[in-house]
Amino acid sequence: MGWTFGQTIEFGCGTGVNLPYYSTKVEQLTAVDWSTNMLMQAMTKQGELDAKGEIQCDKVKFVQADYLNGLPQYADGHFDCVVDTMTLSSTYDRTSQIQEMKRLCKSGGYILLMERGASWLPLINMWLKFRAARDLMTMGAVEHLDFEELVAK
Ligand SMILES: C[S@@+](CC[C@H](N)C(=O)[O-])C[C@H]1O[C@@H](n2cnc3c(N)ncnc32)[C@H](O)[C@@H]1O
Repeated sequence: MGWTFGQTIEFGCGTGVNLPYYSTKVEQLTAVDWSTNMLMQAMTKQGELDAKGEIQCDKVKFVQADYLNGLPQYADGHFDCVVDTMTLSSTYDRTSQIQEMKRLCKSGGYILLMERGASWLPLINMWLKFRAARDLMTMGAVEHLDFEELVAK
């Protein structure tokens, strides 16, 4: 998160786990999630950080939206940084999500991803694929995806 700066958007902010780690160079953070429950927790977290004087970015806009429908309120290249942690492994349409992330990112900006994906060891990948159906049911996410290949497309 130390790489973030300027106008930054986070896809699927969840409970706001990343809020304490944004750089002070972020001018405004747009934190998107479709879940009211998640956004409420993220807002509470931001308030707690503020109360403790541990706030990194004091301009946070929480937006409730399904980013797979696109975020038409933001023009192409609106953001300097696009952040995603652990959402590509739980989305039902990775291609649309990556396209929207690319659309929103300014030329020369950063798309910062942190995902748990496929291993370099084939045996581990066999195990991850074997577990995928169960993981999807229990955690809402899978761990066998090759993100390097996905991003390269
Ligand atoms: C696995 S959680 C990751 C949360 C957080 N980024 C983290 O690292 O802990 C995925 C989050 O993305 C949100 N999400 C999934 N699909 C979404 C969509 N299409 N539009 C908006 N939010 C979505 C979920 O509500 C959830 O909060």
